[in-house]
Amino acid sequence: MKTQIGKIGGIVLLLCFMCLTSLAEGVGLRVTYLGNGQAIVRSLQEKNYILLPIEEKANEAKVTLLVKNQMVSVMNVRLAVDKVDYWVPYDIAGLDVASTLLDIQGVKEDAVCWKEMKLSDSFDKQNREKYRPVYHFTPEYGWMNDPNGMVYKDGEYHLFYQYNPYGSMWGNMHWGHATSKDLIHWEHLPIAIVPDGLGTIFSGSCVVDENNTSGFGKGAIVAFYTSAGRSQTQSMAYSLDNGRTFHKYSGNPVVTSNVRDFRDPKVFWHEDTKKWVMILAVGQEMQLYSSPNLKEWTYESSFGEGQGAHGGVWECPDLIQLPIKGTDRKKWVLICNLNPGGPFGGSATQYFVGKFDGHRFVNESPGKTKWMDFGRDHYATVTWSNAPSGRTIALAWMSNWDYANQVPTMQYRSANSVPRDLFLYEQDGETYLASVPSDELLTLRNKPVKKGGFKVNKSREMKNLLKNNEGIYEIELKVEDVQGKKFGFQLYNSKGEQVSCLFDLEKKLFSMDRNQSGETSFSDRFASVTSAPIKIQDKYVLRLLIDKSSIEIFEGDGRFVMTNLVFPDEPYNHLRFDVEGGSFKVESMNVYKLNK
Ligand code: FRU
Repeated sequence: MKTQIGKIGGIVLLLCFMCLTSLAEGVGLRVTYLGNGQAIVRSLQEKNYILLPIEEKANEAKVTLLVKNQMVSVMNVRLAVDKVDYWVPYDIAGLDVASTLLDIQGVKEDAVCWKEMKLSDSFDKQNREKYRPVYHFTPEYGWMNDPNGMVYKDGEYHLFYQYNPYGSMWGNMHWGHATSKDLIHWEHLPIAIVPDGLGTIFSGSCVVDENNTSGFGKGAIVAFYTSAGRSQTQSMAYSLDNGRTFHKYSGNPVVTSNVRDFRDPKVFWHEDTKKWVMILAVGQEMQLYSSPNLKEWTYESSFGEGQGAHGGVWECPDLIQLPIKGTDRKKWVLICNLNPGGPFGGSATQYFVGKFDGHRFVNESPGKTKWMDFGRDHYATVTWSNAPSGRTIALAWMSNWDYANQVPTMQYRSANSVPRDLFLYEQDGETYLASVPSDELLTLRNKPVKKGGFKVNKSREMKNLLKNNEGIYEIELKVEDVQGKKFGFQLYNSKGEQVSCLFDLEKKLFSMDRNQSGETSFSDRFASVTSAPIKIQDKYVLRLLIDKSSIEIFEGDGRFVMTNLVFPDEPYNHLRFDVEGGSFKVESMNVYKLNK
């Protein structure tokens, strides 16, 4: 009897094996299921990719690449169990098929992924997403968070970024890479830095080592990143071919600690002390280190206790010196991203203004919390190293950890903000950070559709802002002669979806309400109203930059910025002005279709 059952079991197993093998062999793969959630996948032909089927709701499986029995990489991949949401390419180009296999652990035998894996020489990167912005940077596919290692060299702006090429949710952090000559048109380049034995590759920065202080070579681009293994440590890699290839330094890690959250190195040259400075996010403070050669680092000081907002972990620091508008003075600004603890929930960017002598940063207004952007989707903001013409250009990740993994896109997830030029301004005895859209964005404008020159009593409707509005446009608005306590406008579409913007002159606030902006149900933390403090003025100037699924509102002089994602079913092509108990004049209103 036992042997009978054994035989039957054996036959069933053999059938299962044959079934899996033959199903997969149709597309050039052999899948051998080993039980306990483990399988071995071999390619039967030389091709560039194994296309892995992904289901975002599935748990992560462990996918290990073995070449000649040696482990080459280990990735966590949400292999499809019940249905396939999309495929991601697993690169096997140039590998000898006879000695290469994928060891996959954590997926049951009847999961659909075994049948849906395929071999291919190509991967279709054509955009399939209605919400994908056009003039904001997005990865071609996969997940992106923080901008990393931004550096300018030889006419090229480099943008590296936190990247998961194995799915559109956070994980497997690599440094993706793109370059641009104008901050708007980006060329996607191969992945720059891949995970290794020290960990995955978390956020960091790059410098140009003009004088070869490191000995890697004159003009080397040197990248600093956090190796996120069991502990977080700081590592470096250098490139001698303008970022096309990076060599990891053999002495990594270069800075260590026993604190758990210890990451996101931003490195810059401090001219007065003739030293490199590294600022690091450590728990809820920032630590400063100095070095003569980029390799050996000495602890200098810590900043943060009792200063600013502490609702969450401090991340992605930056330390820059900026001019104060209308003066010939400069001050230092410490940029501090924190999550959670933003003014409207989740992630946000705060900053401190003060002095820095190469050793210690001193905040000049310890009692005050200052926010860099008053929307919900502005995080991990850092600036370009070595930017030309004395400019300081910042870029943010345009999302929020509250819901970043759930936003309704699949082929890719997350965009960056538009690039913004930074400077300081003084108001009522305080110094604040101003952000204005970088001038390069002006080149996107088509001829303006001019709508202004009228007075609004109660309300006024403006239908059809643009012909064939595809949701890629800018509105420049100048309002004056305001009588009344509240005035504002709603951008809306024919589905009744709308974004409401309001100046409340009594409360001295400008607010933006996205509660009815379109798709909001993917997270109960998404719908929200955000507000920024304003100064009462004779004239109010706004620039609204709209790109499919985002609205960035800049006050005319950059005194406040508000960045919010929105997911309308169709573009907002109508606008309604209204005013409570009074009137105002729309001196000018220009609507520009933007073209890349
Ligand atoms: C900020 C952050 C960084 C970290 C990276 C990991 O968004 O949490 O602190 O380096 O993302 O992807």
